[in-house]
Amino acid sequence: MTKTTSLVLFGPPGAGKGTQAEKLSHHFTIPQISTGNILRKLRTEDTPLAREVSEVMLRGDLVPASLVVDIVEERLKEKDCGAGFILDGFPRTVEQAKALERILGEQGKQLDAVVSLEVSEKELVARLGGRRLCPACGRAYHLSMNPPKEDERCDTCKKPLFQRDDDREDTILGRLRVYWHETAPLVDYYRHQGLLRPIDGETGPDRVFAQILSVLT
Ligand code: AP5
Repeated sequence: MTKTTSLVLFGPPGAGKGTQAEKLSHHFTIPQISTGNILRKLRTEDTPLAREVSEVMLRGDLVPASLVVDIVEERLKEKDCGAGFILDGFPRTVEQAKALERILGEQGKQLDAVVSLEVSEKELVARLGGRRLCPACGRAYHLSMNPPKEDERCDTCKKPLFQRDDDREDTILGRLRVYWHETAPLVDYYRHQGLLRPIDGETGPDRVFAQILSVLT
């Protein structure tokens, strides 16, 4: 029987969850489930819900748990999650962690590990403030740490890069506040369950990836 790999990638905004989730998704051939990406897609719809979600995300707050839990519950039912999955940005509160336990129990699944990326606040602010994205392929750059070759254009698609609207300074500080108040308590929650795998997230992306693989095997 093939072994499943079912992970939560945990950490503050800018810790590198998306970067590492993508690498792990390729490595293990399992889907990356990013609640942030799903919500950003939902925001593009012309509906009252989309407008409500937009306002919440622009403030850097958490969108209502009921919405996110439903999204994750439905996504985990899909066939491609049969061999495992990487949850990127979920759970973010103890309430969401308990909902995840219920969902996994009902679907006959279980978590193998919660990989926690540890990065200093100074580094997080620098990473988020300088992040720029390609609108076509989604590739992430950083103005000083990983700049594109041509001035603010994607190396591959040549499209002008954009800044996420929640990567502006006031929203970054709001997101970090929310993380410390509402999400950080999950570190102890998962440590008590024996699932927590702390990783030094402040080394380069390839070294972080190597550390993650070493704690998973
Ligand atoms: P979400 O999209 O999940 O954002 P986030 O958690 O704030 O995380 P980011 O995407 O900003 O950062 P990341 O950790 O993925 O880092 P990345 O790899 O991009 O959520 C957005 C919003 O949606 C939330 O604020 C909330 O409103 C809502 N939401 C989402 N989930 C929710 C939930 N469960 N409940 C309620 N609301 C929810 O890297 C960042 C930058 O650093 C990049 O430029 C990258 O190139 C660079 N970088 C990455 N790794 C390294 C490294 N090792 N060294 C140097 N640079 C690096």
